[in-house]
Amino acid sequence: MAYENILVETRGNVGLITLNRPKAMNALCAALIDELSDALDGFEKDAGIRCIVLTGSEKAFAAGADIKEMKSKDFMDVYGEDFITHDWERVTWTRKPVIAAVAGYALGGGCEMAMMCDFIIAAENAKFGQPEITIGTIPGSGGTQRLTRFVGKSKAMEMCLTGRMMDAAEAERSGLVSRVVPVEDLLEDAMKTAEKIAGLSLPSVMMAKEAVNRAYETTLAEGVKFERRLFHSSFATQDQKEGMAAFAEKRPANWKHR
Ligand code: CAA
Repeated sequence: MAYENILVETRGNVGLITLNRPKAMNALCAALIDELSDALDGFEKDAGIRCIVLTGSEKAFAAGADIKEMKSKDFMDVYGEDFITHDWERVTWTRKPVIAAVAGYALGGGCEMAMMCDFIIAAENAKFGQPEITIGTIPGSGGTQRLTRFVGKSKAMEMCLTGRMMDAAEAERSGLVSRVVPVEDLLEDAMKTAEKIAGLSLPSVMMAKEAVNRAYETTLAEGVKFERRLFHSSFATQDQKEGMAAFAEKRPANWKHR
């Protein structure tokens, strides 16, 4: 597939996807979503890739769904095709870790897409928001649900009801982002973090991701049980034997990713 709205590259064991619609603040049009799904499929299938970074430009991670593309749709258009479709959630079912590196605006569907990633590293100029209320609608790709889980009801409600943006410092204080870094360091920092993850055992990384995500979908007791079963499963991997042997022998582990 030829990409017109994203840039895709491989750096070592890390796959990098850059949203690239500079004239539209990286607004998420249908073609971009198709391309993103295709790129994620490719990285999932590529055994050499063990972590993925999703980023935008210094001005915008993404300013939301493409308003111009959807403005004339009517109820049956959106209900009929179940807009925003399944593909918008493609990031959430990526089994390898996906880091969002966010600079500038992450609004509406852009904020929602960042929250679908496994964690967010933000540049100091990042601004997060769900401004859909200001254009006569509401978030449609999980914003009311994920933002509420990440920052709590009061802030999520205020943001969804007023469209107020949250800056990077507030986003870090509220637990929406894992870290804030200077704009010029964002990509390097995200890539280093991704390389660190890609340098670990892939099955352990995938199991840890699955277990943390389960915390959002189930009760504490069920989540703890799920975690324990995955922990047990890790003892069936070659990497558990290698990792613990390497620790005991005071040498670096030679991961097989199996
Ligand atoms: N869709 C389509 N085009 C967009 C866009 C969007 N979401 N956001 C920005 N653009 C376009 C602008 O129309 C403009 O295009 P033209 O040059 O052709 O006029 C270009 O990008 C640059 O934008 P601005 O001139 O507005 O730049 P700014 O610096 O003055 O403002 C901004 C930046 C605050 C991000 C502003 O563009 C803005 O408010 N954008 C819309 C944000 C929004 O409402 N997002 C929610 C969308 S709905 C949604 O996402 C639903 C969902 O839940 C999935």
